[in-house]
Amino acid sequence: MSVLDVLTYPRATLRKKSGPVQKISEDVKSLIRDMKETMYASGGIGLAAPQVGVSQRVIVVDVTPYEPEQEPFALINPEIVSSDGDVESEEGCLSVPGLVETIKRKERVTVRGLDEEGKEVEIEASGMLAICLQHEIDHLDGLTVVERLSPVKRGMIKKKLVKAARNQT
Ligand code: NI
Repeated sequence: MSVLDVLTYPRATLRKKSGPVQKISEDVKSLIRDMKETMYASGGIGLAAPQVGVSQRVIVVDVTPYEPEQEPFALINPEIVSSDGDVESEEGCLSVPGLVETIKRKERVTVRGLDEEGKEVEIEASGMLAICLQHEIDHLDGLTVVERLSPVKRGMIKKKLVKAARNQT
């Protein structure tokens, strides 16, 4: 297992739509192990494969710091099949360090996907789990919290982030 580098905004991989996993190979299983280790090492509650430079539809989630009754899990090819209600909450992202903003989400979502063994699973989520799932699935579609901000705020923050990234290199 290894801790992988987490890409930060505005890296291109973060803004690209990821493709579905065709087969849960050893490579995919090893990616999941590394993603979990990376999430824990970074203190995150979720991580999506594009954040470690892999454009495949894989996410790992562990919201137990907020909801101890939940279990950590990985989800392959996750899809939101239904949602309702609206909620706003403060979100951060490992790929957008320093940014914490209020983001609008659905309050409840039903998500379908495959577990690590390739078994079909359906998750009915609310609370932090619902928010985290929407956040991670956004990453698979090339969206970060930056794209979820209001247009005015997005413009301001994008400029700041691009400038900060330029100063780093
Ligand atoms: Ni994120």
